[in-house]
Amino acid sequence: MQRRDFVLGALGASALSYLAPTLAAMAAGGEPIPYGTCIRTDPLFGDPAYQKAVLDYCQVVGSEGNLKWGDLRPDRHTFNFEQADQLMAFAEEHGLEMRGHTLAWYGAMPDWTNEIASADEARLELTSHIRSVVGRYKGRIKSWDVVNEPLADHPKPGDLIRESVWQKYLGADYIELALRTAAETDPEAQLVINDYDIEQATDRGRARRKALLDLLRDLLDRGVPLHAVGIQGHLHGAVPIDSSGLTSFVAEVKAMGLAILVTELDVIDNELPADIAERDAAVAECARQFLAAIGAAARPERVLTWGITDQHTWVPIWFSRGDGLPNRPLPLDADFKPKPLMDVIQEFTHSFS
Ligand code: G3I
Repeated sequence: MQRRDFVLGALGASALSYLAPTLAAMAAGGEPIPYGTCIRTDPLFGDPAYQKAVLDYCQVVGSEGNLKWGDLRPDRHTFNFEQADQLMAFAEEHGLEMRGHTLAWYGAMPDWTNEIASADEARLELTSHIRSVVGRYKGRIKSWDVVNEPLADHPKPGDLIRESVWQKYLGADYIELALRTAAETDPEAQLVINDYDIEQATDRGRARRKALLDLLRDLLDRGVPLHAVGIQGHLHGAVPIDSSGLTSFVAEVKAMGLAILVTELDVIDNELPADIAERDAAVAECARQFLAAIGAAARPERVLTWGITDQHTWVPIWFSRGDGLPNRPLPLDADFKPKPLMDVIQEFTHSFS
């Protein structure tokens, strides 16, 4: 049976069974897994259709950029919280949870941080930033991607931790420092380490899973406060998912007492067919395999996509299509119409009760 026929057939069946899990969960009194998306504040406050989509589908939101150093910290002495505050107020007004992304990363760093030139300076800047940001939203942002993408892109012995200003001056110790500082600032917050390409059926994917498990065990063995792992889920549609490897990874994380979050799900479709129905079906099947592999070992606490509409996605920044067609990585198309990917997400989040 062709993959295409399998996927369309499976989706056909799942579309028919779309309501069954919901009804079963309602009957059992089970609550579905909260779903949400990262937010861009410009369309949120500028496009009623975008805001309606967020309110129609989401129970949790995050910020695509407003809580990153690049947006928050124009200079060493300034915190620009305006947009993050607007998003926080929107979330609270509409009863949405808000996740914090992110406190320590190599990416989106403002130029002035290149002037950091010692371990003492790095320690001071990292801790004061975390205290200011986590402190501002204490009790309001209940889950933080404290450390984003700590792993080297292809981890190897002696090269496990990604280069950053923090790693340069503090080594891997920056991870513990960030987590402990966040815990001291908001003892109730869920502290998350968030990373990508954990699901891939490749040597690199296996190396990333092992390196992350080793990092988690080391932190927990040393009593470092840590509560969850964020599996980003930027799925490459043309790269097979290691379902058994991902299920085993999630089982080991759960056995450590850590929760699982799906934090940035989308499907990079630049190498998938041009035909929209075929591509949307392949995108949905990729996400279905990913979510099923995670769900086989644990109930993820949240499922977030990295954007909700194809109109606003990071994907073409790095993975535009050779045929020039727009990418279609997200659950709603550019006109906010639900795609098979939304069906898969809704069926998955409603299947736990
Ligand atoms: O807002 C400016 C605009 O004024 C300017 O004209 C334009 C051209 O330079 O840049 C715009 O800012 C861009 C920003 O996204 C807002 O769209 C930045 O250049 C661009 O670097 C930034 O990219 C973001 C990237 O993280 C780096 O922060 C992506 O939107 C965002 O989706 C991406 O998200 C990351 C997660 O944080 C971590 N996991 C991977 C994920 C995808 O890369």
